[in-house]
Amino acid sequence: MSEQKIVTVPEIATIEEIKDEIVDVKTFYLRFDNKEIDGNFKFKSGQFIMCTVFGAGEFAVSLPPSPENDRFHITVRRIGKVTNALHDLEVGDKVGIRGPFGNGFPFEEIKGKNVIYVAGGIGLIPLRSSIVHVLQHRQDFGRILLMYGSRSPQDLMYQYMLEEWQKIEGFETFITVDNGTPEWKGNVGIITTLFDKVEIPVDNTVAFVCGPPVMFNAVIKELMQRGIKDDMIISTLERHMKCGVGKCQHCAIGRTLVCTDGPVYTYRQIKTLGEQI
Ligand SMILES: Cc1cc2nc3c(=O)[nH]c(=O)nc-3n(C[C@H](O)[C@H](O)[C@H](O)COP(=O)(O)OP(=O)(O)OC[C@H]3O[C@@H](n4cnc5c(N)ncnc54)[C@H](O)[C@@H]3O)c2cc1C
Ligand code: FES
Repeated sequence: MSEQKIVTVPEIATIEEIKDEIVDVKTFYLRFDNKEIDGNFKFKSGQFIMCTVFGAGEFAVSLPPSPENDRFHITVRRIGKVTNALHDLEVGDKVGIRGPFGNGFPFEEIKGKNVIYVAGGIGLIPLRSSIVHVLQHRQDFGRILLMYGSRSPQDLMYQYMLEEWQKIEGFETFITVDNGTPEWKGNVGIITTLFDKVEIPVDNTVAFVCGPPVMFNAVIKELMQRGIKDDMIISTLERHMKCGVGKCQHCAIGRTLVCTDGPVYTYRQIKTLGEQI
């Protein structure tokens, strides 16, 4: 990756396209108005940006695109003041962006390993970038597996990508929903039910896990029972952020600042923070 320049003051970006994903979740494709930044905004998979919605405020958001040749976008769930205001915007409207911030996923350290992604619901958003990156560098990794679960078929994120991923030879995808519908022909059951059906690699394996706390804890238990070590389990933490650059302490958990030390942590680190994910 060429040298990363951090945008410290919000740069204006125009919403080029809005895609409805699932209920209350939309993807916003963005283009920086400043031509020098557009196309040169370098980031690492796993980093995040701060997005300003003018008149409403600023919030932290992951970067789902791969750092290489992927359209720049964010995927946002409507949950509070700022994300509600973002959801009310239309194509052509402007937002502010600063970043990228945070540490990013440790791709150099995991080269040569099998990679398991386990995602629940919108936990697929922060993992999308990593999945696309790993698939683009297929030769650097061993087996690549995705275990993904949502409440219902309508709650599956990035359905168009899931369809593409299921066609990729060597990308082992396993999808489940808690509650099926008459049209749903796939697996029904919570995500841990997949662990009885999938032969997962244990040696030389790293697992990326993102999802709601109840899913996260159950998945960690399954992985560790099979022998995957806590320093080989990677996740991202979300905390309310203000500055994003280690100045305000808003995102502090004990001695760690999620905005600068994270948001990517191993489970070994998360355990020492003594907090629920
Ligand atoms: C690194 C990182 C990456 C993220 N990536 C994404 C992403 O890709 N997509 C996405 O949709 N979201 C993402 N988030 C979450 C997003 O930043 C938050 O949901 C943000 O707070 C939304 O702002 P809001 O004003 O819309 O909602 P808020 O008003 O901030 O409310 C959001 C939720 O937090 C609760 N809340 C409000 N204030 C506090 C407080 N002081 N302490 C604890 N809880 C509080 C609210 O009750 C509500 O449930 C990410 C967060 C981080 C830190
Ligand atoms: S958000 Fe200010 S220190 Fe992390």
